[in-house]
Amino acid sequence: MDTLATGNTPTTTAAENYRPALHYTAENSWLNDPNGLIHHDGMYHLYYQNNPWGNVWGNMSWGHATSTDLLTWTEQPLAIPCDANEEVFSGSMVHDRQNSSGFGNETTAPLVAVYTSAYKPESAHPGVQAQSLAYSLDGGYTWTKYSNNPVLNRGSANFRDPKVFRYDGDAGSYWVMVAVEALDHQVVLYRSQDLKTWEHLSSFGPANATTGIWECPDLFPLPVDGDPKNLKWVLTVNLNPGGPNNGSAGQYFIGDFDGTTFTSTSTVTEGLQDSNRLGEYHWLDWGRDYYAAVSFSDAPDGRRLMIGWMNNWQYANTIPTTPWRSPMSLVREITLQTSEGSLALVQQPAGDWTTLAGKGSFCLTQTTLHDSVQVLAGAAGAVQRIDVTFTPGNAEEFGLILCGDGQKGTRVGIRPGEGNLFVDRRESGRTDFHSSFPSIDTAPLRATAGSYRLTIFVDRCSIEVFAQDGQVTMSELIFPAETSTELSVYAIGGTVTMNTLQVTKFP
Ligand code: FRU
Repeated sequence: MDTLATGNTPTTTAAENYRPALHYTAENSWLNDPNGLIHHDGMYHLYYQNNPWGNVWGNMSWGHATSTDLLTWTEQPLAIPCDANEEVFSGSMVHDRQNSSGFGNETTAPLVAVYTSAYKPESAHPGVQAQSLAYSLDGGYTWTKYSNNPVLNRGSANFRDPKVFRYDGDAGSYWVMVAVEALDHQVVLYRSQDLKTWEHLSSFGPANATTGIWECPDLFPLPVDGDPKNLKWVLTVNLNPGGPNNGSAGQYFIGDFDGTTFTSTSTVTEGLQDSNRLGEYHWLDWGRDYYAAVSFSDAPDGRRLMIGWMNNWQYANTIPTTPWRSPMSLVREITLQTSEGSLALVQQPAGDWTTLAGKGSFCLTQTTLHDSVQVLAGAAGAVQRIDVTFTPGNAEEFGLILCGDGQKGTRVGIRPGEGNLFVDRRESGRTDFHSSFPSIDTAPLRATAGSYRLTIFVDRCSIEVFAQDGQVTMSELIFPAETSTELSVYAIGGTVTMNTLQVTKFP
């Protein structure tokens, strides 16, 4: 089917050294957006945009992996393949418990995937993107495309990425779809009783960041500060390019949804923007490599779990890995919390990390540095979680150097005077595969009670930083040499006290 895509291929050994241990990658093929995330019969299902026959983007189909613990994933056979008429673009999945779609039978309620058919030139709808269905009666392993696809066609070339959920509220009980008109910077909302016939409800946008196209939206309620009687709705929408540090990124809005219309109470700018007010908007992640993030359907205990694609369309097809390309992020549990009088998402790595057998640990208490770099002998590693707390003295800048080789490395630093957290990956290892890859990326960060707390996952080709217990996150790819595993702490222009540093090493 179609052409066999090939990528740029560095040596196999170096490329396999980049294969992460904690993040999902497809065994030997390309992946991008997470799709069809659902928890069903005790199993988490992660479908994803996949090129089954290559490691660059193309032949878009839904790949599939499963997990019981959100930490370890098992690759499954290809779920929904492209065909002569269509590529199978991003979408979501619901468990149709009442068999409203009629795809089920007396004993089995179907899983229904709602995806975008990106129609090929030779198909009946050349160049159109419309929404289609596929269903599974065996718990998500084998799929049948609905014979009357597409079910929602606006004749648009950029109508895609349907996220469907069940609305049960004052306005009734029905399926709601959020999708995008990507070039219009609009999220469009529809409703249905049977997943097959859709009625337009409303549209949202353009608002806040609009310098790129809008893709992969999501809409869900969350309790405010854990209070189930006080729900707010969160609309997430991904933007490419135009993120706060260049390229792909995800923004979100907080507000209300009455069953028809989403009303944002966090909009800063209405309409189209070319101005640079990016720092004022809400971002799911401030790093370069967290895109197309969406949440799971039916997560246990009403939790909201999200996962993103760890890459950036600016250089996605050229990152130096083979035969796979692109990791997924860790799964994150997200909550809505009030901080300094305003609401924002807080994100924590999901799953019970104590179950992953550690390869040892390293601990340091109360160390004061003065304008120096200190290599932490015994803390080296390529796959580890670092928990560190700093209380600044008069240092202008302080932080950690990860994946170092004695001289160079990836800096994760804080500049309290500027109120910034940053990741500097200019000397992180291989950066030559794309001119926009080497970068210093920043996020606003304030001390809490005078201190800064960072949790950082280092996983061979990436770092994921959760700052101030998840109030700010930064996810970035890096490609260090296999021997660059040193961990150092540093201060510039004065003193900083590192209150504690705990390193958990993973096999
Ligand atoms: C986002 C995206 C989606 C589309 C998919 C195609 O990364 O462009 O809008 O459905 O990727 O692979």
